[in-house]
Order: sequence, then structure tokens, then C-alpha cells
Amino acid sequence: MTRVVLDCDPGHDDAVAILLALEHPSIDLAAITTCAGNQTLARTTANALRVLALAGRTDVPVSAGRAEPLVRPLVVAADIHGETGLDGAELPAPLAAADGRDGVAVLASAGPETTIVATGPLTNVAAALQQGARPRRIVWMGGAIALGNVTPAAEFNAYVDPEAAAAVLAAGVEVTMVPLDLTHQLCATPAVQARIAAIGTPVADAVLGLLRFFETAYRAVFGLPHPPVHDPATIAWLIAPHLFGGDDRFVTVETTGEHTRGMTVVDVYGRLGQPPNAHVLTRVDADGFWDLVLAALARHAGAA
Ligand code: BDR
Ligand code: CA
Repeated sequence: MTRVVLDCDPGHDDAVAILLALEHPSIDLAAITTCAGNQTLARTTANALRVLALAGRTDVPVSAGRAEPLVRPLVVAADIHGETGLDGAELPAPLAAADGRDGVAVLASAGPETTIVATGPLTNVAAALQQGARPRRIVWMGGAIALGNVTPAAEFNAYVDPEAAAAVLAAGVEVTMVPLDLTHQLCATPAVQARIAAIGTPVADAVLGLLRFFETAYRAVFGLPHPPVHDPATIAWLIAPHLFGGDDRFVTVETTGEHTRGMTVVDVYGRLGQPPNAHVLTRVDADGFWDLVLAALARHAGAA
């Protein structure tokens, strides 16, 4: 079993990551912490609680972290995730409230038995490392080797809090980075959506509604026919690393560039002469990934 604390900003693809982590026997989801990103902290926290309610689960505590990036004002992604952060599905009301603990403190208590999975901006994780967190490893969906998505240079999670991303990558903790180059291979195609529809449970129906909203947004903003489902790749890598391939690279983050704020600079050719600080995933068996995700969705009994 891999003990996981999931720091997230649900968010359509974060919601799928939560549902995968909840329903795989090799993942012990010890806690969820929430960050500001796709929407405000209040909304991402409410959304995490509503996803747990959808799954009928009250055994995973949710703790809210920081409401703002380390040094910059928050930028949200309402164009992609809607005004609620989870537009497209009627999710149930939360079954419980957030537990009142500081999400950063929860992450800071992570020791070598815990893997931190981060699927949003790294604000909370960077703050927790400053407070002494020493997790087994950090698995982060964020960054890009090639094209960004919020700007031509920068992926959203890196763009929102580049200082945090830079700090995490410089912290000396083992990092696995799941960039856009990988997640754009994991699109919710019509075939994937048909398989989700065939499951026919309230959990699967809600996920389908979320993915349809996500698809409309990706078409409108990027002209992509089907949306990449980024965040569950982090959990899937922990469950089934044989489905993925990557390389150890030196990665740093642009914090001052005029046009390149939040760009993850991945030294593919080793030109900077720096030791690697991240394992950067670039290859994935997409069919194997979807088999894993859809099997987990099908196992969800959902709310009683
Ligand atoms: C990342 O940004 C968010 O919109 C998604 O939830 C994902 O974590 C993709 O760039
Ligand atoms: Ca996210």
C-alpha cells in the first residue's frame, strides 16, 4: 500500500484523481488537502468534499491550505473548470465539513512513509517543505517540456505559483513530474466516454457530466477535440509504473521572465551540467491508463 496525501484543486481532472485514489487497493488515501488554483480555496475545498460525498465516503479528512500563492495574486481557471470549479455535474452536498486543520500543517507532518501527490499549484507543498515536511516523494502534475497551456510557455499549475514550483524542485526531495507532454496523451475520447456511460452508476454518470463540460471548454479554448485528463496520471503512476516511461532531468522554473513566467525549463540535453532533480514522465500506455481508471470508477458503489 502506498500512503498518499493528495493536495489538489478540484477541478474536473482532480476529481477523477480523487475517485481513482479512493478506489484502488494499493493506495491508502490518508488525507486530502486543498489548494487555490482552478478556483478559489473555498470552492476547491467544497468541491473535494462534494467528490467524497459522491463516493459516499466520510473516512478521508479534508484540510484547506493556503488561499493565495506564495508571493502573487491568485489566478483561477474559470474558463476551463467553470465558476464552481466543477461545472457540468450535479454533485451531492458535502457529508462532512473540512476538518479545521491547516492543510499545510497536514502536509508538513508527512514523513518518509508518505507520498505527497500534488495536482494543483505547489503553494501548500512548498510551504510544508519549509516547515519540515520530509515525504517519501512528491508526485506532481504540472509543467511542460514543450508547450504550455495558460501561456505558450507555461502550464497552469506552474504558472499560478512559480516560486512554489521552483522551491519544491530545489528542495532535494524526490520529485516525479507529470507534464502536459504526457497528459495530452490521455484524452477522454468518445470511446472512453462510451465506456464510462456503460458503467451506469451515479459516480460514473457524474464523471461523464464533468468530462463533457471539460470537453466543451477544451474545444472552446484550445480547439482540441477531446480533453486531456491530466491529474489522475499521478495516482496511476504510483499504482502501475510499468505503464509509464520517463527520464531523470534537471528542471527549474522561470520566475522572472517577461513572457515565460512559470515555464518549467527541462534540461533534456544536459546542457546546464546540473544533476537531475526530477523524474519527468513522457511516455504512457494510454489504453492501460484508461483500463485502470475505468475499473476504479466501476468499483465505486457511490453514496447510499
Ligand atoms: C492542470 O491545471 C488544471 O487546470 C488541471 O486541474 C491540471 O491540474 C493542467 O494544466
Ligand atoms: Ca488540478
